Amino acid sequence: MANLWGGRFTEATDASAYRFNQSISFDKRLYAEDIEGSIAHAKMLAARGIISEADGNEITKGLSGIRQDIDQGKLEISDEAEDIHSFVEAELTKRIGDPGKKLHTGRSRNDQVALDMKLYTRRRIKETDALLYDLQKALLKIIEEECDTYMPGFTHLQKAQPVTLAHHMGAYFEMFLRDRDRLHDIYDRADSCPLGSGALAGTTYDLDREMTASLLGFEGGATRNSMDSVSDRDYLIEYLSALSIIMMHLSRFSEEIIIWNSNEYRFVEIDDRYSTGSSIMPQKKNPDIAELVRGKTGRVYGSLLSLLTTMKGIPLAYDKDMQEDKEQAFDAMDTVSDCLREFTGMMSSISFDRKIMEDSAKKGFTNATDAADYLVKKGVPFRDAHSIVGRLVLKCLDKNIALDDLTLDEFKEESEIFDEGIYDAISLKTCVERRLTKGAPGKEKMAEAVAYYKDYLDKRGDKKWKD
Ligand code: ARG
Repeated sequence: MANLWGGRFTEATDASAYRFNQSISFDKRLYAEDIEGSIAHAKMLAARGIISEADGNEITKGLSGIRQDIDQGKLEISDEAEDIHSFVEAELTKRIGDPGKKLHTGRSRNDQVALDMKLYTRRRIKETDALLYDLQKALLKIIEEECDTYMPGFTHLQKAQPVTLAHHMGAYFEMFLRDRDRLHDIYDRADSCPLGSGALAGTTYDLDREMTASLLGFEGGATRNSMDSVSDRDYLIEYLSALSIIMMHLSRFSEEIIIWNSNEYRFVEIDDRYSTGSSIMPQKKNPDIAELVRGKTGRVYGSLLSLLTTMKGIPLAYDKDMQEDKEQAFDAMDTVSDCLREFTGMMSSISFDRKIMEDSAKKGFTNATDAADYLVKKGVPFRDAHSIVGRLVLKCLDKNIALDDLTLDEFKEESEIFDEGIYDAISLKTCVERRLTKGAPGKEKMAEAVAYYKDYLDKRGDKKWKD
């Protein structure tokens, strides 16, 4: 297939240099955005009288036909073209003849690819948001069902204080809520259209850049500086960074599920549909999906680092280095979508062992702070209370029992202030339900959080991009 730029050359590109230079093998996935941008450009050229109305219509019809044929699998994007822009233009000219050759008037592949990537990224941002919504919906179901499921909360992976499973899941709901907010911010900042910036310095044609911006759904209109417009990939770096943060959250979550699913913890059982076995050990049921999500995090971080590094030394305006923005970014987008889908499937079918969780909270002295607080409420200074309870813990460790199993006499050996009330004060139920500060796991506060999450999901459904 002929290049778009053969005129000033006397020799063909070396075959292996051509392969090295081409981008069609990976930018073919931008075909829908490329065609959408070209249709807007042609309509604007016709509206401005830069090309005739008739040519404008021919081009639009031709491009729509190409789009339809690719969508329906009737037209294959040939790897012989240099890039998707060359392919679409050549196919258009093949179909409609001379008017096809006018499409590129007042345009460069630099503003064209800047537009295609921006449109594509904006579409994928919405997809990520919808997948996060699905995950939040699955989490909210668990949160609503598990407000009375007591479990140990950990710090340093040591049992610390009792919480509920709902509260623990709520922490992840919050992380994904921030992730979605971040996506919205990025989308809003990527809301201006680079088309019409030309190669770097605008054009001498009287383009209506606001018209193309509005046809393409950019609420912020046309970009302000043409040199910046063709060399800006900030929105992509921001998106990759948001994807990296999402993966960091999914990876932490995976790590916990893996620990909870281990033979030692047995807090959860991952459904058969999301586990795999061992080829040699018949008893094994492994949490591969969670492990893979944790593992793929590195790959997504890598794409962020890769693009940051690619961009850091590029002089203004466009340089071919920027073609390297695609492969790893696409890989990161696909990876995160896959991870979110599989993780949501796993969490929608996972089962929780409430008894094991509750027993674990009981056995781990998670109520020790509450025992100290009980003494404080009876007038003992906190530091003294801390050391009294510390000694009680030692006593329990010696006998391999929980604080609740001590007799009142045993309590009194450490402080005469203890009375029967201690048992109620340190029951798991009391420990959790008295935690009523904003954000704590106490029932009333959790009910407020659940109401907030429900309302949030109503307002920020998968189909509702904007508030
Ligand atoms: N394949 C190129 C890219 O991805 C398209 C832009 C080419 N522009 C150029 N002046 N060679 O960046």
